[in-house]
Amino acid sequence: MNLILFGPPGAGKGTQAKKLAETYSIPHISTGDILRDNVQKGTELGLEAKKYMDSGELVPDDVLIGLIKVRLSEPDANHGYLLDGYPRTKPQADALTDILEKISKPIDYVLNIDVQDEELVRRLSNRRICNSCGASYHLEFNPPKTNANCDSCEGKLYQRDDDKEEVILQRLSVYKKQTQPLIKYYDDQNILVTIDGKGQVEDIFNKITNILND
Ligand code: AP5
Repeated sequence: MNLILFGPPGAGKGTQAKKLAETYSIPHISTGDILRDNVQKGTELGLEAKKYMDSGELVPDDVLIGLIKVRLSEPDANHGYLLDGYPRTKPQADALTDILEKISKPIDYVLNIDVQDEELVRRLSNRRICNSCGASYHLEFNPPKTNANCDSCEGKLYQRDDDKEEVILQRLSVYKKQTQPLIKYYDDQNILVTIDGKGQVEDIFNKITNILND
């Protein structure tokens, strides 16, 4: 299964991606996670990316295209992939088309998760992440037992720097200008399916698997 999870910041891409990757035994390739890992390790890429991420801007295309090309050539992507957070611009989408053509792994579906702005801000501003195992919580919808520690490993919970309200609004604006136009790009190729992303995580997951298993 070759999939792209598409949608605005906070649509629930990461949440659904984890469940889908497990169900279909395909690697979850999140460019946001790869970049954050580099920021945490203090690599050259991480230092370069951090300034864009913290201000809600996109990291330059050439960096992302190089990164995704290398990641898709790794052995675990031989039997499928689930891209989360890539592509985000037309140059990234065009580069992906070229890369996938060369490795003969065309996209089966682009799953576009649709959620209204007000709900996105609510989801992102109340998200908390475990600094040890990476588990993601929501203070209202999926609350941890205490607001300070992870239920499963007791790691400390933190708020992403780009989940502050002013940065969230900038991320949404960048999404509308630079990423949303790709909906038409993939719709024109007849591989786009739009899913209503409001509701319970499990219900949305069932809607997606019904499409994929059809
Ligand atoms: P990235 O990490 O990709 O962030 P994003 O797209 O903004 O996505 P998020 O992780 O914030 O949201 P999500 O849709 O995964 O939602 P989640 O499941 O976590 O990118 C971060 C930055 O990296 C970018 O701004 C950019 O700078 C850079 N970057 C990354 N890729 C790039 C690229 N290709 N090009 C250039 N730059 C790039 O859910 C959010 C919250 O909602 C959670 O608390 C969750 O518990 C809750 N939730 C989920 N589902 C539901 C539900 N159904 N009901 C209620 N709450 C829910």
